[in-house]
Amino acid sequence: MTGAASGIGRGLAERCVREGMKVVLADVDEAALIETARQIRDNGGTALAVRTDVSRFEEVEALADRTIEAFGAVHLLFNNAGVGGGSLTWETTLKDWQWVLGVNLWGVIHGIRVFLPIMLDQGTPAHVVNTSSVAGLLSGPGAAAYKVSKHGVVTLSETLYHELTLQGAKVGVSVLCPSFVRTRIMEAERNRPAHLSNRPEEEVRTPDHQMWFEFFKMKVEQGMPPEEVADQVMEAVRTEKFYILTHPDHKPMIERRLEDVSLERNPTFIFEPIP
Ligand SMILES: NC(=O)c1ccc[n+]([C@@H]2O[C@H](COP(=O)([O-])OP(=O)(O)OC[C@H]3O[C@@H](n4cnc5c(N)ncnc54)[C@H](O)[C@@H]3O)[C@@H](O)[C@H]2O)c1
Repeated sequence: MTGAASGIGRGLAERCVREGMKVVLADVDEAALIETARQIRDNGGTALAVRTDVSRFEEVEALADRTIEAFGAVHLLFNNAGVGGGSLTWETTLKDWQWVLGVNLWGVIHGIRVFLPIMLDQGTPAHVVNTSSVAGLLSGPGAAAYKVSKHGVVTLSETLYHELTLQGAKVGVSVLCPSFVRTRIMEAERNRPAHLSNRPEEEVRTPDHQMWFEFFKMKVEQGMPPEEVADQVMEAVRTEKFYILTHPDHKPMIERRLEDVSLERNPTFIFEPIP
């Protein structure tokens, strides 16, 4: 479970423990990670905490080594760690792109590259859940790096699904595409590494940036509790459902986008900002 020390990842980890599973918690935020593992153990669960930066391949490899060493197998993989943020596309700095794609897209690529061969070799049923977003199915203005990463996770998951199905593999895959969930996503900068942080003079903020930020913050605060997302995810794993769209009210927007594509109509702008 990556991004396990907060929000959706933590909700999923707690849910897995309630189902009787042993969990490996991976997160870049060491203090929050240790605290999450402590609380799980205090409640009688089994949790191994491994500080991991998913954007670094060697750290994901080390995570797999520690997992196998401790528990001998991997049955469920959640590639969930993610960060948000961004400004207008042409004002998004290279460090913004590198940070967001590094965690949200490369993190998932690393998880698949490292864990899939292990899960396939086991020869027993297993499942992968990649966290994308409804932003991986829609395209509005703003947060290009986030959306590119999340669209990437959707097509990566779809590709993987087809490959595993064609091989008759015992490993299933789902892609989680939530809208607003009550987490700390709007404080993602808290764990941004110094070498990928913008210098103050590099930050370009349009005048309405703060207004949008506050709006998104409010929507996230009013969002779905992570426990509810975890319920839907576990049901999807059980029923081998691929697309997990936790917020059905966004479906008309997705349909509109797909219709734009198939009719070769220019993209429709729908005023509904999304995470
Ligand atoms: N909250 C929402 O509204 C929402 C909506 C759609 C999708 N998502 C996605 O859900 C996932 C989980 O986010 P969340 O909302 O729970 O936010 P969150 O900030 O509460 O949790 C994200 C966790 O990822 C960790 N993380 C950040 N960089 C990392 C790295 N390099 N390596 C390992 N861990 C790292 C953070 O430390 C944090 O614990 C993300 O992929 C996010 O894009 C969230």
